[in-house]
Amino acid sequence: MTDALTADAADAALELPQVYTRHVFCCFTQRPPQHPRGSCGANGTQPLWERLGKTIEATGRRDIAMTASGCLTFCQAGPIMVVYPEGVWYQPRTPEDIDEIVAAHLVGGTLVERLVVVPRV
Ligand code: FES
Repeated sequence: MTDALTADAADAALELPQVYTRHVFCCFTQRPPQHPRGSCGANGTQPLWERLGKTIEATGRRDIAMTASGCLTFCQAGPIMVVYPEGVWYQPRTPEDIDEIVAAHLVGGTLVERLVVVPRV
């Protein structure tokens, strides 16, 4: 057996995920309402992230993924999400913002500039 075949077998055994075209990380951190750092959870992320998951699923695109994350360190600006490979940080506020990010960026590849909170480097 060659090394390549061995690596393929190992990958299959581990059920490694596919490489995504775009991968979104969303902060699910919830701190108490009076916490000095604030949190995305305290700023109402739950319905937005639920909308994001359902909207991504509705695209039928298996190459776009969403993963729940811990604190992404921009707590006061939450809800915060980051899209890779571009490394674009978004601050969606409404369900319509989520729909726009999915359609324009995740599917279409065009940034939604009005919702970007951290400049790209
Ligand atoms: S709590 Fe979401 S970025 Fe820190």
